[in-house]
Amino acid sequence: MTDNQFRTPIAADGRLGAASVHPGFADPAYLRRRQAIAAPARDHRVGNPSPPVAYSPAEHQTWRRVHRAVWAAQAEHACRAALEARERAPLPADRIPQHTEVGARLRALTGFDFTLAGGVVANRRFLGSMAHGYFHAVQFVRHPAVPLFTPEPDVIHDVLGHGIHLADPRFADLYRLVGRAAMRIDNPDVLQMISDVYWFTLEYGVLEEHGRPRAYGAALLSSYGEMRQLHRCRIRPLDIDAVLATEYTITGYQPVLFSARSLEEVTDVLAGFLDRLDDDSAPLRRTNRS
Ligand SMILES: [Fe+2]
Repeated sequence: MTDNQFRTPIAADGRLGAASVHPGFADPAYLRRRQAIAAPARDHRVGNPSPPVAYSPAEHQTWRRVHRAVWAAQAEHACRAALEARERAPLPADRIPQHTEVGARLRALTGFDFTLAGGVVANRRFLGSMAHGYFHAVQFVRHPAVPLFTPEPDVIHDVLGHGIHLADPRFADLYRLVGRAAMRIDNPDVLQMISDVYWFTLEYGVLEEHGRPRAYGAALLSSYGEMRQLHRCRIRPLDIDAVLATEYTITGYQPVLFSARSLEEVTDVLAGFLDRLDDDSAPLRRTNRS
């Protein structure tokens, strides 16, 4: 995850942030478990296999509850391309799969694999790894008290959201497009622009189908609540200048989403922006986060 990929009240070193309102942030046993699962990421080299995690029965139960709810919500609120992708995705309903298990299947489908993250990953590493077919994903599970909401990416978000994308060459190509641009860039302000555009497309993008916004972004696809609230969002046509000028929230549901008519349009818009970026590109208006 990048520093703006999701709502991240927990800092990289495990300290709690100001937005610490989730039950997981006040549960020492949960925090110890989370940190223990995340710890191997500290020395992880991109491309090395993630270590296996012995998930508890309670953690598998959380997966089952979220999978059941999200799967049903996707059927109603996901776009056609995402629903086609999930048919290809290796996602068991009854247990949390291991990174290596899902990654091996994804690699055969699109050339992508998961690589281990423990929390926040710097933009250049997170985005640039996509050029080489690696997506940084965590292994810890959200707190069981509120299974249908997580304030930070967990294994359920990464596997049920990005795992669906990375089973389909159409989505995988979008990740590579973002990754190749990030690999050319050293300027942190320009990398942040790429990250902001990634946020409003591959995390929170929607397509208009049958006159309604349908989710394709991974954050939406893995969020039961947000898919059910799409009708309450302000939907704007996908436009890079508008995206970069739009404030967004990392502590709650997105009030503004950007819509395209097809994945081909998303590809065209992203390529038109990313292909002309270099380190001298003037940062446009920085997005603000609340
Ligand atoms: Fe994500």
